[in-house]
Amino acid sequence: MSKNYTVAVVGATGAVGQEMVKMLESRKFPVKSLRLLASERSVGKKMKFNGQDIDVLKLTPEQAKGVDIALFSAGAAISKEYAPIFAKENCFVIDNSSAWRMDESVPLVVPEVNSQALSQEKKIIANPNCSTIQMVVALKPLHDAARIKRVIVATYQSVSGAGGHGMDELEQQSRAWAKNETIPPASTFQQQIAFNVIPQIDVFLDNGYTKEEMKMTNETRKIMGDAGMAVSATCVRVPVFRSHSESVWIETEKKLTAVDARRLLAAAPGVEIYDSPADKKYPTPLMAANRQMTFVGRIREDIAIEKGLTFWVVSDNLLKGAALNAVQIAEELLHRDLIKNQ
Ligand code: A2P
Repeated sequence: MSKNYTVAVVGATGAVGQEMVKMLESRKFPVKSLRLLASERSVGKKMKFNGQDIDVLKLTPEQAKGVDIALFSAGAAISKEYAPIFAKENCFVIDNSSAWRMDESVPLVVPEVNSQALSQEKKIIANPNCSTIQMVVALKPLHDAARIKRVIVATYQSVSGAGGHGMDELEQQSRAWAKNETIPPASTFQQQIAFNVIPQIDVFLDNGYTKEEMKMTNETRKIMGDAGMAVSATCVRVPVFRSHSESVWIETEKKLTAVDARRLLAAAPGVEIYDSPADKKYPTPLMAANRQMTFVGRIREDIAIEKGLTFWVVSDNLLKGAALNAVQIAEELLHRDLIKNQ
């Protein structure tokens, strides 16, 4: 019989937190008891889990006691403060924020790529950036076969990547436009997001890239275990509610034909090829929303560079890009029998 675990979701009321609760239920994670934690604002709310109403409680240090696994998605400041408190209680923390990702002692894990980085001692585990996760799921089999030297990627990222407030902003601006009312000013985003495209996600850094773009560079190298892989990203916010799309271009050491790439991706875990352009079959954010796979299409050999290959990758940023990947990490901890405090 499988053991059952006390699981906490920190930031349970948020866009990702709600999906974490749904993923624990739909993937039948062996939960003995579920602790839903958020800010004081949410005290009094209830959320459904396996048909039961569970009270949302205020996050305090006392709530860390007795928890085996905590899934965090309440922002980097909360993670910085609370992940060590939970870890000290011998709890595995799977953190969706950027707080711990580049910490050398913290594994940054996408189970299809580097679950070997997990260990019993490393209690804080980082869930990568949403755009990075779906990209490395597709890069991994190609890298193993032909060694990727260079990646150039442009993203088309949905507003849910900015949390519930981002979704509200797109909805309110779109509703106002449809009713011919004054469009509410931008607040979560830098510019109006409805009917627009914004080539800025997060703040700009000294090298002219944004923080989100440098996350893609640095996190991809760490997860793939290849510090020399050149990665250049342009991250763009688009008026889509769910799922991030990416136009990915790679240069490999060994020539990969489109046929090779298709064969490798077809066999890769977590990937579904959806690539029949003549039939208008290519992944889109709408078709990928609420689904767990990373969809790849438009696979073709690049005409500008001899060993270049280009393709289009779409996945639900709240699922594989966040909640699903976190729950898969938890499943991997069980699978590897790393949780000993039962
Ligand atoms: P709350 O709903 O009580 O504000 P999103 O990513 O969709 O913006 O959600 C952020 C999540 O982080 C929410 O669950 C939010 O709870 C939670 N959160 C924000 N600030 C705190 C805090 N100080 N303590 C605990 N949870 C917090």
